[in-house]
Amino acid sequence: MQQPTRIAPSILSADFARLGEEVRALDAADADYIHIDVMDGHFVPNLTIGPDVVKALRPHTDKPFDVHLMIAPVDPYLDAFVAAGADIITVHAEATPHTHRTIQYIKSLGKKAGVSLNPGTSLSAVDYLLDDVDLVLVMSVNPGFGGQSFIASQIDKIKELRKRIDASGRTIDLEVDGGVNFDNAAEIIAAGADVLVAGTATFANGEYAANIQRLKNAG
Ligand code: DX5
Ligand code: ZN
Repeated sequence: MQQPTRIAPSILSADFARLGEEVRALDAADADYIHIDVMDGHFVPNLTIGPDVVKALRPHTDKPFDVHLMIAPVDPYLDAFVAAGADIITVHAEATPHTHRTIQYIKSLGKKAGVSLNPGTSLSAVDYLLDDVDLVLVMSVNPGFGGQSFIASQIDKIKELRKRIDASGRTIDLEVDGGVNFDNAAEIIAAGADVLVAGTATFANGEYAANIQRLKNAG
């Protein structure tokens, strides 16, 4: 069943020179999750942050760290992100031939496990994972950079995924990431999303609390 809308600001749009302060500001602005985009310059064409930065941010908030791993291979780094304080770890179906095993491993460490699909990846990639995952992340841009435009074709994918999640009878977050803004948030929520990642939109004009509220109330 679709849950109330939650907002996961992506710190990719934060001031990296003041990351701890930025995370505290997002906490105070009523962010639900702190979305942390980890990129390796290999699976995606950009480099961002690693487990040491996650660890350094951990004391700045009690909000769940929603760690989006855009790295391949991913398995060798799972322990380090858990030790650093990740609460939810999402891996890309395209980044490992052994998604099921990776999900099981994350869960064995006592953390929530998510699977992410690139815009060109079919939903069939999650067909045999819905009994196990806590979150499915639909990428509505090609991963690698903030500030890109929402890819409209993903609305149908979100609708179909909502049906499959509901049919599973399990509580699974349906998270959408990339190009979410004030104009399209209502349509994305209506399609079935219950967690919106927002980088550019959250940080617009420095009005974090107002922006988060506006996105949350869009549906
Ligand atoms: C893209 C990242 C996103 C991105 C979202 O690869 O996974 O989390 O930073 O940023 P906006 O909201 O600006 O599209
Ligand atoms: Zn992300």
